[in-house]
Amino acid sequence: MEKLSFVGKSLPRKDALIKITGRAAYADDREFAGMLYAAAVRSPRPRVKILSISAAAASRIPGYVTLVTYKDIPGVNKWPLVMRDYPFLPEKEARFAGETVALAVAETAAAAKAAARLVEIKFKELPFIDDPLKALEKKSIKIYGKNNVISSFVIKKGAVDKAFDKAAYVAEGEFFTNYQVHAYLETQGAIAIPESDGGVTVHSSTQCPFYILDAVAAALGLPYHKVKILQTVTGGGFGGKEDMPALVASHAALCAVKTGRPVKLIYGRKEDFQSMSKRHPGWARVAYGADKNGRLTACRVKYVLDGGAYATLSPIVLWRGTVHAAGPYKIDNVYIETFAAATNKVSCGAFRGFGQPQICFAQESLIDELAAKIGMDPVDFRLKNMLEPGDKTVTGQKINSSCGLKEIVLAVRRRSGWNKKVAGNRLQMTGGKDKVRGIGFAVTYYGVGLGAKGRYLDRAGALVNIYKDSSVGVNVGNAEMGQGALTVLAQIAAETLNAPYESVRVEEVDTSKVPDSGPTVASRTTLMSGNAIIDAAGPLRERIFKTAFDLLVLKGARAAGQMTASGGVFYMGGKSVTFSEVSGECWNRRHKMSEQGWYAAPRTTFKMDNGQGDAYVIYSYSADAAEVEVDLKTGVAKVLKIWAAYDVGKIVNPRLAIGQAQGGILQGMSWALYENLVYKNGIMINPNFTDYVMATAADKPEYDITFIEKPYAEGPYKAKGMGEVPLIGVAPAVANAIANACGARVRSVPLLPEKVWGELKRIKN
Ligand code: MTE
Ligand code: MOS
Repeated sequence: MEKLSFVGKSLPRKDALIKITGRAAYADDREFAGMLYAAAVRSPRPRVKILSISAAAASRIPGYVTLVTYKDIPGVNKWPLVMRDYPFLPEKEARFAGETVALAVAETAAAAKAAARLVEIKFKELPFIDDPLKALEKKSIKIYGKNNVISSFVIKKGAVDKAFDKAAYVAEGEFFTNYQVHAYLETQGAIAIPESDGGVTVHSSTQCPFYILDAVAAALGLPYHKVKILQTVTGGGFGGKEDMPALVASHAALCAVKTGRPVKLIYGRKEDFQSMSKRHPGWARVAYGADKNGRLTACRVKYVLDGGAYATLSPIVLWRGTVHAAGPYKIDNVYIETFAAATNKVSCGAFRGFGQPQICFAQESLIDELAAKIGMDPVDFRLKNMLEPGDKTVTGQKINSSCGLKEIVLAVRRRSGWNKKVAGNRLQMTGGKDKVRGIGFAVTYYGVGLGAKGRYLDRAGALVNIYKDSSVGVNVGNAEMGQGALTVLAQIAAETLNAPYESVRVEEVDTSKVPDSGPTVASRTTLMSGNAIIDAAGPLRERIFKTAFDLLVLKGARAAGQMTASGGVFYMGGKSVTFSEVSGECWNRRHKMSEQGWYAAPRTTFKMDNGQGDAYVIYSYSADAAEVEVDLKTGVAKVLKIWAAYDVGKIVNPRLAIGQAQGGILQGMSWALYENLVYKNGIMINPNFTDYVMATAADKPEYDITFIEKPYAEGPYKAKGMGEVPLIGVAPAVANAIANACGARVRSVPLLPEKVWGELKRIKN
């Protein structure tokens, strides 16, 4: 094993100080001379025909400057994202309540908001659809394409009907999961500044600066070299700042170009709830079949996502859900069909796990139900059927040696005291006779990166500069949004160059400094940008190491010795020389001290027509055990402790990895138990943190987190990807624990007290 100085260490976060001291400059903290403010005018109803838009009343607000509508779009009125169905501003029809129809621009933020409220939209209401299953019915009205289907996939393997006929045991069930709101601390926002050459610079809170580049260039009809996107410090994304910032930034840019002045557009929380993307509600019918020995033989899945009014990222989210829909098991006969259906509600998009948590809740709940039918312990049942190196996934992909699924399951079983708890808990009364405890399990796998569906975007660039004073500047195309990318990437750069960690700075993304590196999603940053940095740093490393050797010889080191490098110092024959001295000498020798790097993900072979082939380049794995306490009188479930283990390859920064695990678990638990966004007749009725309940730090369970680091040969220092992994299996582990505690099997998320209570009442009768 290679001895590492910086990778694998819990080095302090690069952005810790500016964030805890409040000095970090978020989009709303930036000011520019002569800046104006924009506020969105929104559709009040789920589906309307726009008859006219009038600023007559709005224009009387002091400070009012102008109203921007689709007529002010110099470029193409189509956001260039996946399906290209979302207009920057609607021309004739608005398709969900909250959709931006126009923008009021004024001298102050307050005036812009006041003006926006007075803009009068004359409209005619059109019939709408708010239920994705209804949208798929043949006789339903058509609101999207020919059949309201945004996107659809299939995976076919073996002979499913026959396998079900022959199965000794079958479990089948219908499951539902509700929306999840990203609830990033910083709402969406951007500032656009018109440049003297007709170009525009945008400062934006975002995880995908290159999507903004695509969108702003299209909306303004500008060549890319006249558009520059600068990512501001981003206060949380969780997938919510993948696609949407491009719309917000394009709106700001349209206002800036029309007025010739910088324009700031910062969302309020309510409009952010109403109009920005969400985790898709999911509906699924899943069936598993097993033979008499408890071996899984068949799986059938129908999975439907509520896409909302426009496609945005639904096809990609659905595809990830499709590939992972049967769970990390060996199954020979599989039929999976999936649909993203259009409704007249907010568009749904990326959210940590990207279409996997919804279907994982269904399939991992059902695995427990099947194990119970067979009379097997749910962990034994999983161990018997799970993927191990050499096995094939349902898409026919062979699992390679970087798979620690079995080890993590065994670790969680042992650490949680599973064997004792699973049998005894139900009867073990705690805190009086109204409360019972239970324990539940779930396993997941997670394809790192964009996979076959996003393969054209799965590449990344990096620019590494060693300055004259030996400090190191790194530019990448993937974004820090709280997950720790700046830190992890700095560790990788420091390791490769043998530069002191403190001397390395990774910058927020500037699209003019690095080539399009795809989106910062799919837990791909460490792998993609990490490898791009190693590619850039490679030639620099050669020059540095060669020069270090020369300097050591000059210092009188016995040249026969082997030079070693660690912690920013080079050693040979009893002498040493620092990185700083070496880089100074490199500059004296006029070496090139700046390099570009590039990394493209390996090829995938997945075929869309039958769902067979290699879907992702590599998988990460998780196992969770949740212990819950259920109040039998009220149905309230509380998660006491989560034991989780992960194989995400080499851990670059253990403390950050634990942070990602804790955050992901809490976010998953919050979705599982509490988060309940409600629409009534096409109107969101709780778009605020008072009525939309989430877990806070006060609700956190106890955590027990373990890493099994199965090296991935292609990964930077053998790392895979981890950011989303910890969320995915939490909900089914909690649901399984509730069932274990009190017998109530709830098949819909959130697992609200009334659902648990209702189920308890039903079993009793
Ligand atoms: N952690 C924090 N603190 N804030 C975030 O916005 N986003 C998550 C996850 N962890 C997020 C986070 C999501 S949705 C993804 S895809 C990954 O981080 C992205 O980071 P990575 O590519 O560096 O793993
Ligand atoms: Mo994460 S949902 O892939 O941004």
